[in-house]
Amino acid sequence: MSASKGHFSPSVISADVVSSLPAGYTIRPLEREDYHKGFFECIQVLTSTGDVSESRFLERYDYMKNLGVHYFLVIEHEGKVVGTGTLMVERKFIHDLGSVAHIEEIAIRKEEQGKGLGLKMIQALSSVAKNVGCYKSILGCSPENEGFYQKCGFKRGGLDMNQYY
Ligand code: ACO
Repeated sequence: MSASKGHFSPSVISADVVSSLPAGYTIRPLEREDYHKGFFECIQVLTSTGDVSESRFLERYDYMKNLGVHYFLVIEHEGKVVGTGTLMVERKFIHDLGSVAHIEEIAIRKEEQGKGLGLKMIQALSSVAKNVGCYKSILGCSPENEGFYQKCGFKRGGLDMNQYY
């Protein structure tokens, strides 16, 4: 997409959101070096990741970068990844060939929770969704997190159905 360091151009993230983070915290596109900044440790507050080697991480990173529909963001503090979140753009035939954003993998390290960083992550992802032309964002969450997403401006939609393989 661009020659920038991360896996997409940071210009699609709202500058207002970027500048509103607490001092010492930055929000930016995922970078290859994040493997060594505790990326997996951070995301493990959400779910298991398996023991992923650096080469497998980089292979998936390059795959996502080349597809050009994934926007993986991280929040960094003191050289460590303390927050993650991603958005995938689905291009549709309905709504005049509209695009929908799917928000996933929102994780804030335990010791960093309650500081407004989750809200900043969602605001940043929502700004990306708007800037790349999506007409809505969709996410699924557990009942325990419904209040958080309501605070972020989401409303309950339909029923979430899953089939695991
Ligand atoms: N229920 C209700 N309200 C909540 C919750 C909750 N579980 N969590 C936060 N809030 C409220 C806060 O009190 C705050 O309200 P305020 O503005 O009135 O003070 C507001 O939501 C924003 O809170 P943040 O401090 O930004 O939230 P935080 O940084 O702690 O991040 C998150 C919330 C992402 C749920 C975090 O607790 C976390 O990483 N949990 C573990 C992983 C997880 O469950 N991730 C979500 C998976 S769903 C998905 O990825 C689509």
